[in-house]
Amino acid sequence: MKNRKLVLAARPEHLIKETDFRLEEEEIRPLKEGEFLIKVLFLSVAPVMKFYMLDGAGIENPMQFGDTMRGRGVGEVVESKNPTFQVGDIVQGKCGWQEYVICDGTPYYMMYKVNQRGLSYSTALGVLGMTGFTSYFGLYNVGECKEDDNVLVSAATGGVGSNVGHLANIKGANAVGMASTDEKCKLLVEKLGYKGAINYTKENIAEQIDHFFPEGVDIYFDNVGGKILDIALTKLRRYARVVLCGRISQYKDRDNPDYSLNNWHRVGATRSKMEGFFIYDYEKHFPKAEHEMAQWITEGKLTYQEDMLYGLEKMPEALNRLFTKKNVGKQLVKIS
Ligand SMILES: NC(=O)c1ccc[n+]([C@@H]2O[C@H](COP(=O)([O-])OP(=O)(O)OC[C@H]3O[C@@H](n4cnc5c(N)ncnc54)[C@H](OP(=O)(O)O)[C@@H]3O)[C@@H](O)[C@H]2O)c1
Repeated sequence: MKNRKLVLAARPEHLIKETDFRLEEEEIRPLKEGEFLIKVLFLSVAPVMKFYMLDGAGIENPMQFGDTMRGRGVGEVVESKNPTFQVGDIVQGKCGWQEYVICDGTPYYMMYKVNQRGLSYSTALGVLGMTGFTSYFGLYNVGECKEDDNVLVSAATGGVGSNVGHLANIKGANAVGMASTDEKCKLLVEKLGYKGAINYTKENIAEQIDHFFPEGVDIYFDNVGGKILDIALTKLRRYARVVLCGRISQYKDRDNPDYSLNNWHRVGATRSKMEGFFIYDYEKHFPKAEHEMAQWITEGKLTYQEDMLYGLEKMPEALNRLFTKKNVGKQLVKIS
Protein backbone atom coordinates (compact mmCIF):
# COMPACT_ATOMS: atom_id res chain seq x y z
CA MET A 1 0.00 0.00 0.00
CA LYS A 2 1.19 3.52 -0.77
CA ASN A 3 0.81 6.83 1.06
CA ARG A 4 0.80 10.24 -0.62
CA LYS A 5 1.79 13.27 1.42
CA LEU A 6 2.53 16.98 1.02
CA VAL A 7 5.84 18.08 2.48
CA LEU A 8 7.15 21.60 3.08
CA ALA A 9 9.21 22.76 0.09
CA ALA A 10 9.38 26.55 0.61
CA ARG A 11 8.45 29.12 3.23
CA PRO A 12 5.58 31.42 2.16
CA GLU A 13 6.55 35.00 1.45
CA HIS A 14 3.06 36.35 1.00
CA LEU A 15 0.13 34.13 -0.02
CA ILE A 16 0.35 30.31 0.08
CA LYS A 17 1.49 28.79 -3.23
CA GLU A 18 1.27 25.22 -4.51
CA THR A 19 5.04 25.29 -4.89
CA ASP A 20 5.43 25.79 -1.14
CA PHE A 21 4.71 22.04 -0.98
CA ARG A 22 5.94 18.90 -2.73
CA LEU A 23 3.78 15.82 -3.28
CA GLU A 24 5.63 12.63 -2.30
CA GLU A 25 4.66 8.98 -2.46
CA GLU A 26 5.96 6.28 -0.12
CA GLU A 27 5.35 2.63 0.75
CA ILE A 28 3.40 2.17 3.97
CA ARG A 29 5.70 0.17 6.25
CA PRO A 30 4.44 -2.71 8.45
CA LEU A 31 3.08 -1.65 11.85
CA LYS A 32 5.10 -2.10 15.04
CA GLU A 33 3.52 -3.17 18.33
CA GLY A 34 1.37 -0.30 19.72
CA GLU A 35 0.86 1.37 16.34
CA PHE A 36 -2.27 1.73 14.21
CA LEU A 37 -2.83 2.85 10.62
CA ILE A 38 -5.36 5.57 9.85
CA LYS A 39 -6.92 6.23 6.47
CA VAL A 40 -7.52 9.98 6.41
CA LEU A 41 -11.07 11.07 5.54
CA PHE A 42 -11.00 14.84 6.09
CA LEU A 43 -8.27 17.40 6.77
CA SER A 44 -8.70 20.79 8.38
CA VAL A 45 -6.98 24.04 7.44
CA ALA A 46 -6.49 26.95 9.83
CA PRO A 47 -4.75 30.34 9.59
CA VAL A 48 -2.14 29.29 12.18
CA MET A 49 -0.71 26.80 9.66
CA LYS A 50 1.01 29.64 7.87
CA PHE A 51 3.06 30.11 11.03
CA TYR A 52 3.88 26.41 11.16
CA MET A 53 5.41 26.94 7.72
CA LEU A 54 7.25 30.09 8.80
CA ASP A 55 8.51 29.95 12.36
CA GLY A 56 6.12 27.90 14.46
CA ALA A 57 4.57 31.03 16.05
CA GLY A 58 5.87 29.91 19.42
CA ILE A 59 3.24 27.16 19.38
CA GLU A 60 5.33 24.38 17.88
CA ASN A 61 8.86 23.98 16.57
CA PRO A 62 9.33 25.48 13.10
CA MET A 63 8.82 22.92 10.35
CA GLN A 64 11.87 21.84 8.35
CA PHE A 65 11.91 21.38 4.57
CA GLY A 66 10.78 17.85 3.76
CA ASP A 67 8.57 17.55 6.87
CA THR A 68 5.00 16.42 6.24
CA MET A 69 2.82 19.51 6.61
CA ARG A 70 1.19 19.59 10.03
CA GLY A 71 -2.53 19.64 10.56
CA ARG A 72 -5.45 17.87 12.15
CA GLY A 73 -7.63 15.35 10.44
CA VAL A 74 -10.33 12.76 10.89
CA GLY A 75 -9.75 9.22 9.72
CA GLU A 76 -10.69 5.59 10.03
CA VAL A 77 -8.44 3.00 11.69
CA VAL A 78 -7.79 0.39 8.99
CA GLU A 79 -5.13 -1.72 10.74
CA SER A 80 -4.16 -1.89 14.40
CA LYS A 81 -1.59 -3.30 16.78
CA ASN A 82 -2.82 -1.00 19.56
CA PRO A 83 -5.44 -2.34 22.00
CA THR A 84 -7.09 1.07 22.48
CA PHE A 85 -7.76 1.80 18.81
CA GLN A 86 -9.64 -0.91 16.88
CA VAL A 87 -10.14 -1.34 13.14
CA GLY A 88 -13.22 0.68 12.17
CA ASP A 89 -12.77 3.35 14.87
CA ILE A 90 -13.09 6.93 13.63
CA VAL A 91 -10.42 9.14 15.19
CA GLN A 92 -9.43 12.81 15.22
CA GLY A 93 -5.92 14.13 15.79
CA LYS A 94 -2.67 15.26 14.22
CA CYS A 95 -2.77 13.40 10.92
CA GLY A 96 -0.66 15.75 8.79
CA TRP A 97 -1.35 16.48 5.14
CA GLN A 98 -1.37 12.90 3.89
CA GLU A 99 -3.68 10.07 2.93
CA TYR A 100 -2.53 7.57 5.58
CA VAL A 101 -0.84 8.07 8.91
CA ILE A 102 0.80 5.59 11.26
CA CYS A 103 0.11 6.64 14.82
CA ASP A 104 1.67 5.19 17.97
CA GLY A 105 -1.01 6.53 20.32
CA THR A 106 1.42 8.84 22.18
CA PRO A 107 0.12 12.25 23.38
CA TYR A 108 1.90 14.05 20.51
CA TYR A 109 -0.81 12.89 18.08
CA MET A 110 -3.64 14.05 20.40
CA MET A 111 -5.69 11.24 18.86
CA TYR A 112 -9.17 10.58 20.24
CA LYS A 113 -12.21 8.60 19.11
CA VAL A 114 -14.95 10.60 17.44
CA ASN A 115 -18.56 10.35 18.63
CA GLN A 116 -20.70 9.66 15.58
CA ARG A 117 -23.77 11.59 16.76
CA GLY A 118 -25.48 11.12 13.39
CA LEU A 119 -23.47 13.97 11.85
CA SER A 120 -20.77 13.97 9.18
CA TYR A 121 -17.37 13.05 10.60
CA SER A 122 -16.14 16.35 9.19
CA THR A 123 -17.88 18.13 12.08
CA ALA A 124 -15.17 16.72 14.38
CA LEU A 125 -12.81 19.21 12.69
CA GLY A 126 -15.31 22.08 12.59
CA VAL A 127 -18.18 22.89 14.87
CA LEU A 128 -17.50 19.88 17.16
CA GLY A 129 -13.71 20.22 17.01
CA MET A 130 -11.07 22.85 17.82
CA THR A 131 -12.84 25.46 15.69
CA GLY A 132 -16.18 25.13 17.48
CA PHE A 133 -14.46 24.92 20.85
CA THR A 134 -12.66 28.19 20.04
CA SER A 135 -16.04 29.85 19.39
CA TYR A 136 -17.51 28.34 22.58
CA PHE A 137 -14.70 29.11 25.06
CA GLY A 138 -13.88 32.42 23.39
CA LEU A 139 -17.44 33.68 23.75
CA TYR A 140 -18.49 32.04 27.01
CA ASN A 141 -15.30 31.91 29.09
CA VAL A 142 -13.17 34.77 27.78
CA GLY A 143 -16.11 36.95 26.67
CA GLU A 144 -18.25 35.98 29.69
CA CYS A 145 -21.31 36.25 27.44
CA LYS A 146 -24.61 36.85 29.20
CA GLU A 147 -28.19 37.79 28.40
CA ASP A 148 -28.72 41.03 26.45
CA ASP A 149 -25.01 41.50 25.72
CA ASN A 150 -24.24 43.29 22.47
CA VAL A 151 -21.74 41.05 20.68
CA LEU A 152 -19.73 42.22 17.68
CA VAL A 153 -17.81 39.58 15.69
CA SER A 154 -15.21 39.94 12.91
CA ALA A 155 -14.63 37.29 10.20
CA ALA A 156 -18.11 36.22 11.23
CA THR A 157 -18.64 33.76 8.37
CA GLY A 158 -15.24 32.13 8.98
CA GLY A 159 -14.76 28.82 10.77
CA VAL A 160 -14.83 30.27 14.29
CA GLY A 161 -17.08 33.26 13.60
CA SER A 162 -19.77 31.20 11.89
CA ASN A 163 -20.64 29.53 15.23
CA VAL A 164 -20.60 32.65 17.40
CA GLY A 165 -23.96 34.12 16.29
CA HIS A 166 -25.97 31.09 17.43
CA LEU A 167 -23.89 30.66 20.58
CA ALA A 168 -24.69 34.29 21.48
CA ASN A 169 -28.40 33.64 20.86
CA ILE A 170 -28.32 30.62 23.14
CA LYS A 171 -27.28 32.97 25.98
CA GLY A 172 -29.93 35.54 25.01
CA ALA A 173 -27.32 37.97 23.64
CA ASN A 174 -27.49 39.91 20.35
CA ALA A 175 -24.76 39.35 17.79
CA VAL A 176 -23.81 41.43 14.78
CA GLY A 177 -21.22 40.03 12.40
CA MET A 178 -18.76 41.63 10.00
CA ALA A 179 -17.81 40.12 6.66
CA SER A 180 -16.26 41.18 3.36
CA THR A 181 -19.12 40.64 0.87
CA ASP A 182 -22.88 41.15 0.65
CA GLU A 183 -23.33 37.38 0.08
CA LYS A 184 -21.49 36.61 3.30
CA CYS A 185 -23.53 39.26 5.13
CA LYS A 186 -26.76 37.70 3.84
CA LEU A 187 -25.65 34.31 5.15
CA LEU A 188 -24.92 35.81 8.56
CA VAL A 189 -28.51 36.90 9.09
CA GLU A 190 -30.30 34.16 7.14
CA LYS A 191 -28.46 31.13 8.48
CA LEU A 192 -25.83 31.90 11.07
CA GLY A 193 -27.97 33.48 13.78
CA TYR A 194 -26.72 37.06 13.53
CA LYS A 195 -29.20 39.90 14.17
CA GLY A 196 -27.35 42.13 11.74
CA ALA A 197 -24.37 42.26 9.44
CA ILE A 198 -21.79 44.85 8.40
CA ASN A 199 -19.98 44.66 5.07
CA TYR A 200 -16.71 46.13 6.32
CA THR A 201 -15.33 46.58 2.81
CA LYS A 202 -17.96 49.09 1.73
CA GLU A 203 -19.82 50.35 4.77
CA ASN A 204 -18.62 52.78 7.42
CA ILE A 205 -17.86 50.36 10.23
CA ALA A 206 -18.16 52.86 13.08
CA GLU A 207 -21.50 54.21 11.82
CA GLN A 208 -22.86 50.72 11.36
CA ILE A 209 -21.84 49.67 14.87
CA ASP A 210 -23.69 52.77 16.18
CA HIS A 211 -26.69 51.78 14.07
CA PHE A 212 -26.94 48.27 15.52
CA PHE A 213 -25.65 49.00 19.03
CA PRO A 214 -26.35 52.68 19.88
CA GLU A 215 -25.54 51.96 23.53
CA GLY A 216 -22.21 50.31 22.66
CA VAL A 217 -20.58 46.89 22.44
CA ASP A 218 -20.29 44.52 25.42
CA ILE A 219 -18.20 41.87 23.68
CA TYR A 220 -15.97 42.30 20.67
CA PHE A 221 -14.95 38.84 19.43
CA ASP A 222 -11.90 39.64 17.35
CA ASN A 223 -10.65 37.28 14.67
CA VAL A 224 -8.84 39.83 12.52
CA GLY A 225 -6.94 42.46 14.57
CA GLY A 226 -5.61 45.61 12.86
CA LYS A 227 -7.82 48.50 11.85
CA ILE A 228 -11.12 46.75 12.52
CA LEU A 229 -10.06 46.04 16.11
CA ASP A 230 -9.02 49.69 16.46
CA ILE A 231 -12.45 50.90 15.33
CA ALA A 232 -14.26 48.40 17.57
CA LEU A 233 -12.34 49.74 20.59
CA THR A 234 -14.00 53.14 20.09
CA LYS A 235 -17.42 51.51 20.51
CA LEU A 236 -16.86 49.67 23.79
CA ARG A 237 -19.44 50.00 26.50
CA ARG A 238 -18.43 50.11 30.17
CA TYR A 239 -17.03 46.77 31.42
CA ALA A 240 -16.80 45.39 27.89
CA ARG A 241 -14.75 42.30 27.02
CA VAL A 242 -12.50 42.19 23.95
CA VAL A 243 -11.83 38.56 23.03
CA LEU A 244 -8.48 38.41 21.24
CA CYS A 245 -9.07 35.19 19.33
CA GLY A 246 -6.99 35.87 16.21
CA ARG A 247 -5.57 38.60 13.98
CA ILE A 248 -5.61 37.25 10.47
CA SER A 249 -5.28 40.73 8.90
CA GLN A 250 -1.74 40.76 10.33
CA TYR A 251 -0.74 37.26 9.22
CA LYS A 252 -0.20 37.95 5.54
CA ASP A 253 2.74 40.27 5.16
CA ARG A 254 5.33 39.42 7.72
CA ASP A 255 7.69 42.07 6.34
CA ASN A 256 5.24 44.85 7.11
CA PRO A 257 5.08 46.09 10.69
CA ASP A 258 1.99 45.11 12.64
CA TYR A 259 -0.80 47.68 12.72
CA SER A 260 -0.39 49.89 15.82
CA LEU A 261 -3.58 50.51 17.77
CA ASN A 262 -4.58 54.13 18.33
CA ASN A 263 -7.60 53.54 20.53
CA TRP A 264 -6.30 51.17 23.20
CA HIS A 265 -6.95 53.87 25.81
CA ARG A 266 -10.67 53.12 25.36
CA VAL A 267 -10.06 49.88 27.25
CA GLY A 268 -9.04 51.78 30.37
CA ALA A 269 -11.61 54.53 29.93
CA THR A 270 -14.45 52.00 29.78
CA ARG A 271 -13.02 49.67 32.51
CA SER A 272 -12.97 46.96 29.88
CA LYS A 273 -10.66 44.02 29.45
CA MET A 274 -8.83 42.62 26.46
CA GLU A 275 -7.89 38.98 26.83
CA GLY A 276 -6.05 36.60 24.56
CA PHE A 277 -6.47 32.85 24.83
CA PHE A 278 -5.15 29.64 23.39
CA ILE A 279 -7.79 26.99 22.82
CA TYR A 280 -5.71 24.11 24.19
CA ASP A 281 -5.77 25.84 27.60
CA TYR A 282 -9.38 24.60 27.78
CA GLU A 283 -8.59 21.03 26.72
CA LYS A 284 -9.97 19.34 29.80
CA HIS A 285 -13.35 21.02 29.19
CA PHE A 286 -13.61 19.99 25.50
CA PRO A 287 -16.00 17.05 26.20
CA LYS A 288 -18.51 19.38 27.89
CA ALA A 289 -18.42 21.81 24.95
CA GLU A 290 -18.71 18.97 22.43
CA HIS A 291 -21.68 17.45 24.27
CA GLU A 292 -23.55 20.76 24.59
CA MET A 293 -22.90 21.88 21.02
CA ALA A 294 -23.96 18.51 19.59
CA GLN A 295 -27.15 18.76 21.64
CA TRP A 296 -27.84 22.27 20.32
CA ILE A 297 -27.33 21.08 16.74
CA THR A 298 -29.88 18.29 17.34
CA GLU A 299 -32.32 20.82 18.81
CA GLY A 300 -31.84 23.16 15.83
CA LYS A 301 -30.38 25.94 18.00
CA LEU A 302 -26.96 25.76 16.35
CA THR A 303 -26.32 25.42 12.62
CA TYR A 304 -22.87 25.14 11.12
CA GLN A 305 -21.22 26.04 7.86
CA GLU A 306 -18.57 23.98 6.09
CA ASP A 307 -16.64 24.85 2.94
CA MET A 308 -15.36 21.63 1.34
CA LEU A 309 -12.71 21.03 -1.31
CA TYR A 310 -11.83 17.56 -2.59
CA GLY A 311 -8.47 15.75 -2.79
CA LEU A 312 -5.06 16.05 -1.12
CA GLU A 313 -3.75 18.23 -3.96
CA LYS A 314 -6.27 20.92 -2.95
CA MET A 315 -4.72 21.48 0.49
CA PRO A 316 -2.52 24.46 -0.51
CA GLU A 317 -5.46 26.13 -2.26
CA ALA A 318 -7.69 25.44 0.76
CA LEU A 319 -5.19 27.13 3.09
CA ASN A 320 -4.80 30.07 0.75
CA ARG A 321 -8.57 30.61 0.63
CA LEU A 322 -8.44 31.75 4.27
CA PHE A 323 -6.10 34.61 3.38
CA THR A 324 -7.88 35.56 0.16
CA LYS A 325 -11.27 35.64 1.95
CA LYS A 326 -12.78 32.97 -0.30
CA ASN A 327 -13.86 30.50 2.39
CA VAL A 328 -17.40 30.57 3.70
CA GLY A 329 -17.49 28.66 6.97
CA LYS A 330 -14.98 26.12 8.21
CA GLN A 331 -12.55 25.28 5.40
CA LEU A 332 -12.05 21.54 5.04
CA VAL A 333 -10.76 19.11 2.44
CA LYS A 334 -12.23 15.65 1.85
CA ILE A 335 -9.32 13.30 1.29
CA SER A 336 -11.01 9.92 0.98
N1 LIG B 1 -7.00 31.62 20.06
C1 LIG B 1 -7.03 30.38 19.59
O1 LIG B 1 -6.70 29.39 20.26
C2 LIG B 1 -7.48 30.19 18.16
C3 LIG B 1 -7.94 28.95 17.71
C4 LIG B 1 -8.40 28.84 16.40
C5 LIG B 1 -8.38 29.96 15.57
N2 LIG B 1 -7.89 31.13 16.05
C6 LIG B 1 -7.89 32.34 15.23
O2 LIG B 1 -9.25 32.68 15.02
C7 LIG B 1 -9.41 33.33 13.77
C8 LIG B 1 -10.47 32.59 12.96
O3 LIG B 1 -9.97 31.29 12.64
P1 LIG B 1 -10.69 30.41 11.53
O4 LIG B 1 -9.95 29.13 11.45
O5 LIG B 1 -12.13 30.42 11.78
O6 LIG B 1 -10.37 31.23 10.22
P2 LIG B 1 -11.40 32.00 9.27
O7 LIG B 1 -12.17 33.00 10.08
O8 LIG B 1 -12.17 31.02 8.48
O9 LIG B 1 -10.36 32.81 8.38
C9 LIG B 1 -10.63 33.25 7.11
C10 LIG B 1 -11.47 34.52 7.10
O10 LIG B 1 -10.75 35.62 7.70
C11 LIG B 1 -11.13 36.83 7.07
N3 LIG B 1 -9.94 37.56 6.60
C12 LIG B 1 -8.91 37.08 5.86
N4 LIG B 1 -8.00 38.03 5.64
C13 LIG B 1 -8.47 39.16 6.23
C14 LIG B 1 -8.00 40.48 6.36
N5 LIG B 1 -6.84 40.86 5.79
N6 LIG B 1 -8.74 41.38 7.05
C15 LIG B 1 -9.91 41.03 7.62
N7 LIG B 1 -10.43 39.78 7.55
C16 LIG B 1 -9.71 38.86 6.86
C17 LIG B 1 -11.99 36.46 5.85
O11 LIG B 1 -13.36 36.70 6.18
P3 LIG B 1 -14.07 37.99 5.47
O12 LIG B 1 -14.21 37.58 4.02
O13 LIG B 1 -15.35 38.16 6.14
O14 LIG B 1 -13.13 39.13 5.66
C18 LIG B 1 -11.74 34.97 5.69
O15 LIG B 1 -12.82 34.28 5.10
C19 LIG B 1 -8.03 33.32 13.09
O16 LIG B 1 -7.41 34.56 13.30
C20 LIG B 1 -7.30 32.21 13.83
O17 LIG B 1 -5.91 32.38 13.81
C21 LIG B 1 -7.46 31.28 17.32
